[in-house]
Amino acid sequence: MDASERRTAAPVLVIGTGGAGLRAAIELAERGVGVLAVGKRARADAHTTLAAGGINAALATMDPEDDWRQHAADTLQEGYLLADPRTVRIVTEGAARGIADLERYGMPFAREADGRISQRFFGAHTWRRTAFSGDYTGLEIQRTLVRRAERLGVPILDTVHITRLLVRDGTVFGAYGFDLNDGTRHVIHADAVILATGGHTRIWRHTSSRRDENTGDSFRLAVLAGARIRDPELVQFHPSGLVEPEDAAGTLVSEAARGEGGKLLNALGERFMARYDPERMELSTRDRVALAAYTEIKQGRGTPHGGVWLDVSHLPRETIMTRLPRVHRTLLDLQMLDITTDPIEVAPTAHYSMGGVWVRPEDHGTGVHGLYAIGEAASGLHGANRLGGNSLIELLVFGRIAGEAAAAYSAGLRAQRRCPDALAEARREVDGLLACDGPENVRLLQRAVRDIMTEHCGVVRDEAGLRAGLAGLDAVEDRVGALGIHPDNAGYQDLAHAFDLKSTMLAARATLEAALERRETRGCHNRSDHPGLDPAFQVNLVWSGPGKVEREPVPPIPEQIALLMRHVSSEGKLVE
Ligand code: FUM
Repeated sequence: MDASERRTAAPVLVIGTGGAGLRAAIELAERGVGVLAVGKRARADAHTTLAAGGINAALATMDPEDDWRQHAADTLQEGYLLADPRTVRIVTEGAARGIADLERYGMPFAREADGRISQRFFGAHTWRRTAFSGDYTGLEIQRTLVRRAERLGVPILDTVHITRLLVRDGTVFGAYGFDLNDGTRHVIHADAVILATGGHTRIWRHTSSRRDENTGDSFRLAVLAGARIRDPELVQFHPSGLVEPEDAAGTLVSEAARGEGGKLLNALGERFMARYDPERMELSTRDRVALAAYTEIKQGRGTPHGGVWLDVSHLPRETIMTRLPRVHRTLLDLQMLDITTDPIEVAPTAHYSMGGVWVRPEDHGTGVHGLYAIGEAASGLHGANRLGGNSLIELLVFGRIAGEAAAAYSAGLRAQRRCPDALAEARREVDGLLACDGPENVRLLQRAVRDIMTEHCGVVRDEAGLRAGLAGLDAVEDRVGALGIHPDNAGYQDLAHAFDLKSTMLAARATLEAALERRETRGCHNRSDHPGLDPAFQVNLVWSGPGKVEREPVPPIPEQIALLMRHVSSEGKLVE
């Protein structure tokens, strides 16, 4: 240890300061439990701010028939029977409370003239149950949670990159990291740790995640600590990402655009969803709309830049300006395009990790004592297709529950044994990277992994491609030994990128191996060499390291929920 290493202790450490992490920290602070929250980017700029169109709860403000049981049934049905019914119940039943918490913290929801919270349709929901704040819902939620956390005096470190969890004999005792600005090392001892470090969609080239976020950190931190990853292959491609400019390709155009009446057209002007889901059209499930757009493009009916058209220009200008202000502004900023008059060119974009760290449904414990995972880092709610709007409610519900569980765990701890070797290893890892002076550039290797995933593990996959992807990953792995890491006066970003690369590589391997194992087509996972849904694969795939994929049965769906599920045919789903 040297003078530039800082030691801190807190009963509970929360890693990640997006919506999930902040909600957990708030729960702890409200219970009077000491908590420290750390994030690798500024709290005001967490990925949650990009969530756009809304948050789900069966509040029945617009459609009195709605009820949490129907929300549960829709979630399970549209997740192609891979979601854990216990997790689904906890989220859908607890959703109204999640919204009430946000209201209590001052969230500015859109409201009807009489004061009811407005709710709109999102794809494949039986009723209008998506509450919103224009198409800035995630931004408003993040602002609301930051305000609340600050009012409660939650200490937040904004620029700390966590490199390792500290574990002894299957029990977590803290984390190790460094400051992105000045390189100061942080040893943080904690009774319990909550991982809220997002997903892994930045490992594709066209993604709705920005640079340096969702790089698979949760996967790496969890697996090195002894936890496991469930269903890494189940990645949601959102149908509407921008196709240009190239450096912003993948930027999200919210599903709210379709929820408000936007139409999808191919280059021939056909409303192509009529061929894929004539009943629900543009408000079909995301996996279907994404596959439909992909198919139109592949079969030569795409737009000049390789997309399809999303048109909202027929909507009243007032609707666009009040309900889709971010889409309006984004298109003006990035393309000088006015969506009140012109259609938008869009294509599928890697958007959400539906799999993630394996967690227990009741408290989101990971199986490593004292370690919890929440938000996009966790798994269990979405199965093979996530309903838009379910992730924001999930982070509120399980942020609260994991905060409560971590508080109880900490209170019940009689003693904690630390491990100098674990700390020494974490230190050595950072020292080792800082000593690297080879010819390989970390950014180029990150790009190589993104190219591999885009080419071999996109909307449609097959065995040959997935194997080629794994071979490509091996080749990148060989080059990692020759990295050059050079922090400079501007900060330690180069070191952070090296850790992001390690996370990316691990997340890519987990994804490719599980995608190879799932020899069927289900939801987001389209195998052109296995085009049918196979009942034998109505299981979760649990990855615990290279070459280790196990099947885990999905618990049965309670009868009262099963009765509410509407059958959705998957016949002929893979059009290719
Ligand atoms: O399209 C959207 O507004 C995305 C919402 C979500 O992913 O939940």
